[in-house]
Amino acid sequence: VDNRPIGVFDSGFGGLSVLQSLVAEFPNEQFIYLGDTARIPYGVKSPATVAKYLKQNLEFLMTLKCKTVVVACNTASAVLKSETFAIPVIGVIEPGAEAAVATTQNKSIGVIATKGTVNSKAYVTAIHTLDTSITVHQNAGPLLVPLVEENWVDDPITNLIIYRYVAPLLSKGIDTLVLGCTHYPFLLPAIEKVTTGKVNIVRSGPAVAQSLRQTLAGADAAAGASQKPAPTRLLTTDDSSTYIEMARRLTVGLDLAKPELVEII
Ligand code: DGL
Repeated sequence: VDNRPIGVFDSGFGGLSVLQSLVAEFPNEQFIYLGDTARIPYGVKSPATVAKYLKQNLEFLMTLKCKTVVVACNTASAVLKSETFAIPVIGVIEPGAEAAVATTQNKSIGVIATKGTVNSKAYVTAIHTLDTSITVHQNAGPLLVPLVEENWVDDPITNLIIYRYVAPLLSKGIDTLVLGCTHYPFLLPAIEKVTTGKVNIVRSGPAVAQSLRQTLAGADAAAGASQKPAPTRLLTTDDSSTYIEMARRLTVGLDLAKPELVEII
């Protein structure tokens, strides 16, 4: 039994989609969520810069005595592999790839993600590690993260932009679409207007919950069954008076504490 918190981080609101899945799956665990709002977006930055942010965020969450950290950002997860840290660190790419491989019937998988994730080919590599016969079609969706951060999740313009990004993947005959950015699940209703039930959609949250379960079981580090977690601590690196309203709007039902401003160097 280990009642220390689990750290979850993203550049902004996206990781809240993962947090939502984790809180639902692990009701006894205490979570700390870090939104690196001073440095968002990650998706357009170079791998070296994102790797630096990743390392700093992990070291910061370790100072808060996290027993493990979920990197709830695909762009940061894409540069995670070679690093070794003192605590288990779980990225979202391999779990998402596993879920996609388990889902596809026709061995044709589409991935929409940030430019950083697409350019890293992290999903292509992870999928081919599991099954070389699968074809992976990728498309970057650089306009989607700002739309979520602006809360334009239900808007005709957003629908059009999603159509432009997703339609080329559909025309390749994919039967499975990986939402390779944790901001995208907040656009799910709009994405489904384009996919019209014709493809299976894979999200990072449910996929990584499985990995977290294995990690906690392997280290015998699950929280005690009687632990009643306090509201999730929300940390941001930029002062954002509107952060909490937006976080609550995106994650209806999650018990979130008032955001705390932190400095990460
Ligand atoms: N949510 C992050 C991801 O999963 C990207 C957001 C950003 O570009 O900062 O890739």
